[in-house]
Amino acid sequence: MLLIPMVRERADLIVDLVLSNAKAYVDNEIVDCCLAINQGKIFRISKEANMPKAETNTDLKKTLVLPGLIDVHVHLRDEGKTGKEDFYSGTAAAAAGGVTTVLDMPNNNPVTMSAETLRRRMTIAERKVLVNVGFYSEFPKDTKETGEIIREGAVGFKLYMAEQIGGLNIDDDYALLEAFKTVSGMNRPVAVHAEDKSTLKKAEDECKRANRNDIEAFLNTHAEKAEVIAVKRLLSIAKQTSVHMHFCHVSTENGLKAITDGKKSGMPITCETTPHHLFLSVDDLRRIGTSALTMPPFREKRHLAALWNGIRNDWIGILASDHAPHTAAEKKAKLIWDVKVGIPGLETTLPLLLTKVKRGLLSITDLVRLMSENPAEIFGLGSRGCLKEGNDADFVVVDLDSKHRIDASKFFSKAKFSPFDGCNVEGKPIKTYVSGRLVVDEGEIVAEAGSGGIIRRK
Ligand code: DOR
Ligand code: ZN
Ligand code: ZN
Repeated sequence: MLLIPMVRERADLIVDLVLSNAKAYVDNEIVDCCLAINQGKIFRISKEANMPKAETNTDLKKTLVLPGLIDVHVHLRDEGKTGKEDFYSGTAAAAAGGVTTVLDMPNNNPVTMSAETLRRRMTIAERKVLVNVGFYSEFPKDTKETGEIIREGAVGFKLYMAEQIGGLNIDDDYALLEAFKTVSGMNRPVAVHAEDKSTLKKAEDECKRANRNDIEAFLNTHAEKAEVIAVKRLLSIAKQTSVHMHFCHVSTENGLKAITDGKKSGMPITCETTPHHLFLSVDDLRRIGTSALTMPPFREKRHLAALWNGIRNDWIGILASDHAPHTAAEKKAKLIWDVKVGIPGLETTLPLLLTKVKRGLLSITDLVRLMSENPAEIFGLGSRGCLKEGNDADFVVVDLDSKHRIDASKFFSKAKFSPFDGCNVEGKPIKTYVSGRLVVDEGEIVAEAGSGGIIRRK
């Protein structure tokens, strides 16, 4: 009796796509299987014999299929900053790097800090994006607007502590407390750039008075203590509420220790670090020069070791690129204080991590946890982040054996520089699918602008 509906389903159903001969990362292991995709979702993961008929059949020839990467820290720019990047070039870079979802930062022109600016940004993005894009908002000037920003679908709030960017006065502990109380019950993280503004300003002013214009002066200014002071200050305010604090690009041993102490005390805290803070040190910055300047900067080796330790112990739950494109001219300003800080990272993250996997320094399980599962879970991104029937069909096909050299001049990003330029890597994304649609095939964009999705978090 029960067999009859099954047989009827098999006979009638033609799904959009069947990928055969895959080695897919499913339920924490790599399995030989086929994937059937229908209407943007993973319809079935099973053996060849259980696959329905499909409009399109693709033989993956035993290549590895991973959940698409979710990069929770990306500056897509556009609007008043299209010279640096726009929604098309930025999401093309994402797709080429195997990243199927990005979360966009609000330090734009205009700053995303109201329901209206957020709505407008989503509308502009809708016509251009190639992957899924969610949006952060800075805190609004008027706390009463917080709810409206959330109803518009912001994935979280960004709080930039290094200088005043959003509507919330970052010098005012009481205002911070009120903002944290407001978002506490709203199920949205507050993602923080934790460098203390007055600590930075004091150190920078001293350097400027001494006519310093060198990388060491920048490093002295952005010292570990600027991160530690900001983290501790925010945690002392946050602990009076139940706000979910997410610390962006954690870069120092003691910054991470302060975060970990907060976590151990039971506070709802998460954090991320970046590939550049894990793989590059001050020596690389000195060798490369101002094009590699970021905030926070690359650190001494002891910090790199502490960050790796944080990953091994699960204190750091996410890796994110902090893709921060700038023009070539902006990276070469005469005065170090005028150099625009930030580097592109969407196209280097996955090859760099796959190289670590090949060398046995990271497992595939770690990679998927740090770049797909945890980001989806921590940012409430619904049915993304793992290959499972019913989930969004966001995935990347990877050639683990492809040896190549990173060539920034070939980036889809408008920012054609990278501190990893010229590095030899092993492992390459070869096909990227977003909601079941092939977006990048062997290094070429094959989808239409606007075919990606806007995430409005409910
Ligand atoms: O290096 C950085 N670049 N750090 C930031 O906090 C901002 C970012 C950017 O927007 O360029
Ligand atoms: Zn930042
Ligand atoms: Zn950033």
